Amino acid sequence: MNAGVASEDEFVARTVLRELSRIDRGVPTPFGTDREPTAAGVERRRSPTGVPFWMATDSGTCKSVLGQAAVSRSAACAPSAPSLLANPTISPRSIMSVDGAQHAKLKRAAMKRLGKHAAVTRCANILERTRTLLNGMPDAATVDLVPAFTAKLPLLNLVDLLGLPESSIAEFGGAGEVFFDFDSLSPEQAAQRVARLLHFCLRTFGDPEQASDGAIADFQRDPALSRKEAVELTLAFLTAGYHTVAGQLSLVLYAALASPVIGDLMRQSAAPEPLVKILVHAMPVTTVSFPRRMTAPLMVDGNDFRSGDMVVAGLGEAGERDLSDEEVPVAAHENGLAFGYGRHRCPGEQFSIEQITTAAMQFLHRYPRAALSKTDDAIVWQAGLTTRGISKMIVELDAS
Ligand code: HEM
Repeated sequence: MNAGVASEDEFVARTVLRELSRIDRGVPTPFGTDREPTAAGVERRRSPTGVPFWMATDSGTCKSVLGQAAVSRSAACAPSAPSLLANPTISPRSIMSVDGAQHAKLKRAAMKRLGKHAAVTRCANILERTRTLLNGMPDAATVDLVPAFTAKLPLLNLVDLLGLPESSIAEFGGAGEVFFDFDSLSPEQAAQRVARLLHFCLRTFGDPEQASDGAIADFQRDPALSRKEAVELTLAFLTAGYHTVAGQLSLVLYAALASPVIGDLMRQSAAPEPLVKILVHAMPVTTVSFPRRMTAPLMVDGNDFRSGDMVVAGLGEAGERDLSDEEVPVAAHENGLAFGYGRHRCPGEQFSIEQITTAAMQFLHRYPRAALSKTDDAIVWQAGLTTRGISKMIVELDAS
């Protein structure tokens, strides 16, 4: 009986993968130029700032580099390290930039709010927010799903997670816009976003009434964290937790609407989370990892990585490769790389999958005949240097 269930799930997953490989996925331009393919799974490339680096392009190689202690985040953030991006934005003290005991401490603090133990209340909240938002959807035949739904819901969910009043959304919404991909903005736009985010954090931390029960209060009360570390973690959640979920939810709903087969299989599924994970791995919003730097020599897939070399994991390219290879087991798609791998793997994965699954399923059930509009500009892809997404998605809510 179990084997039968497993093979039925596998059949559904395979059908979704095949369908996905047939639709336009707005595949992003690969990060880096002067590509020199070496052994399978690795390329030598040059970054937009002209720095040579190794790019891991398949899942196995991405995992083997991200899992190695010698492939270090903190070494890549040291002032002496070459920068692969013109506008590196992450503070060298952030959870994303440190390794070792300091990193483990910050990760523990982050997981107190993001771990599975808080899921019951969190999921109930997400469901309520989703239903309220769908109830208030514009009463029109067609809507742009991005401003009406996919970009709105993650903002509400993040405000709840952080424990901020809903009234802070106007200010927070601007602050939480894409932060990772600064190289696709002008220096003035980038500076404005930093200023908004800092202003928001300063106000929130300066006024204890601003944050009630939620992640910010957890960080502020955590005796293991200094005040600076609490601010750093808040900034990490703000910058990493909004644009990613909004973009990824758009991509998942796009797949379900662009392919009626995927949409129907999701609607029929009693446990749709694995299907959502498959879609996320094949089309990750974060297309590359943060850069790493080698602290010791290492042989990777027959390539001689030397101490000091820069390394990036191509999460998007790995997902694309897996999608085109029928031999890759379904389980490998479900446990893909969209949320990274190893010590720096995303602590927000569970929270994100909860949001995306709830939002996508509630929408698909409420609008069983929804379809992408057939107009030429129904979909506008947003391709950044290190992220991808959808900035416009016109949907006919009842396309019967
Ligand atoms: C679909 C949504 C999301 C995606 C695709 C995503 C993707 C990623 C990836 C790929 C990494 C690892 C980068 C690397 O190792 O170079 C990462 C790290 C991180 N993410 Fe997410 N993320 C998402 C949502 C979130 C949310 C909702 C939060 C928090 C509220 C969050 C907080 C973080 C933090 C703090 C890190 C740094 C972890 C560390 O360095 O140990 N992310 N994310």
